[in-house]
Amino acid sequence: MPSVRFRLNGVETDVDADPDLSLLSALRGPLRLTGPHFGCGANECGACNVMVGDRAVAACDTPLWSVAGKDITTIEGLGSADAPHPLQRAFIAEQALQCGYCVSGILISAAALLKQNPKPTGEDVKAALDRNLCRCGSHNRMVRAVLRAADEMEAP
Ligand code: FES
Ligand code: FES
Repeated sequence: MPSVRFRLNGVETDVDADPDLSLLSALRGPLRLTGPHFGCGANECGACNVMVGDRAVAACDTPLWSVAGKDITTIEGLGSADAPHPLQRAFIAEQALQCGYCVSGILISAAALLKQNPKPTGEDVKAALDRNLCRCGSHNRMVRAVLRAADEMEAP
């Protein structure tokens, strides 16, 4: 089985898997990272989003071979229970999650936005989250949470 090497949450990682496998299948399967969720499987919902470099991409629609040598960040690499990312703290403070199924992908989209635009407007946040579906209808709270995190990250 060929091996594909990339940096996963800051750690050099080799995975022995079919290079045509989706990145999502490799993450949730052999790499045992179940934070990125399977929703539509067709690049339509954002539940599986991960960062490749500083861009959010749908891992379900990204072949493993295409991330060789790249930096991948999953929700597991964004923060932890002991050291949450400001976005994670803000989502809790704004009570921006209900069932939570969409949230790992939404946090990744928001983190990619803040990397590219540390002072987004509400419209910027809405545009960045436009392709992330949330069946619980938490979008307005999520926008508030992203703006709150941006303020916190900007504070000296
Ligand atoms: S599961 Fe990947 S975009 Fe929906
Ligand atoms: S919080 Fe339930 S789908 Fe978004």
